[in-house]
Amino acid sequence: MKITWCGHACFLIKTEKTTLLIDPFLSGNPMAPVGHEYVDPEYILLTHGHADHVGDTVAIAQRCEATVVANFEICNWLKRQGVKSTHAQHIGGGFDYPWGRLQLTMALHGSSMPDDSYGGNPCGLLLTMEGKTIYHAGDTGLFSDMQLIGEVGLDLAILPIGDNFTMGPADALRAVQFLLPKQVVPIHYDTFPVIKQAPHVWARQVEAQTGSRVMVMAAGQTIQL
Ligand code: NI
Ligand code: MN
Repeated sequence: MKITWCGHACFLIKTEKTTLLIDPFLSGNPMAPVGHEYVDPEYILLTHGHADHVGDTVAIAQRCEATVVANFEICNWLKRQGVKSTHAQHIGGGFDYPWGRLQLTMALHGSSMPDDSYGGNPCGLLLTMEGKTIYHAGDTGLFSDMQLIGEVGLDLAILPIGDNFTMGPADALRAVQFLLPKQVVPIHYDTFPVIKQAPHVWARQVEAQTGSRVMVMAAGQTIQL
């Protein structure tokens, strides 16, 4: 599969069977390589309700007739915004889609919607498809149950390192030690001045202290998994 980072927490994943878009914050994202008009997902997956994650979901879902997968409360909000196709899941629950399995995991964060209405609890995404397992942590602080998530065997962990709103570099290193993924991609940094980080310094620390390989992606870059 091909995995493209669109800056912040947004990823476009193209597999043999589908195109997935995670947390499509493109409008207003200074790192976004393309506008929301240029993505064409079949499914949009959301970690939580904050504006820097819901982003252009409504516009993209309406244009592409994409199905949005999120927690129950976010799906209800999206229906009120005119999104036709949603699939609600919740923390701990998994579902087998035609393209693979998605389980929602816990995340330590908030989840109010862009209009401040209630968005339920924030989540992480545990994806299994084409024989690979990917964990997108969403926005979260460190929690020791990451050890349980890692027990399934992760090919890729996508982790926030920005600090201030989420784990910073030190806790993200501890997260890698809990998750034991083969590869790691740091996200949720440099989008705004308050989350400025040095990802290559972090990458060297992680590779010195764990067995994981860190890929510092440029916004718009695509990797193969
Ligand atoms: Ni957030
Ligand atoms: Mn965020």
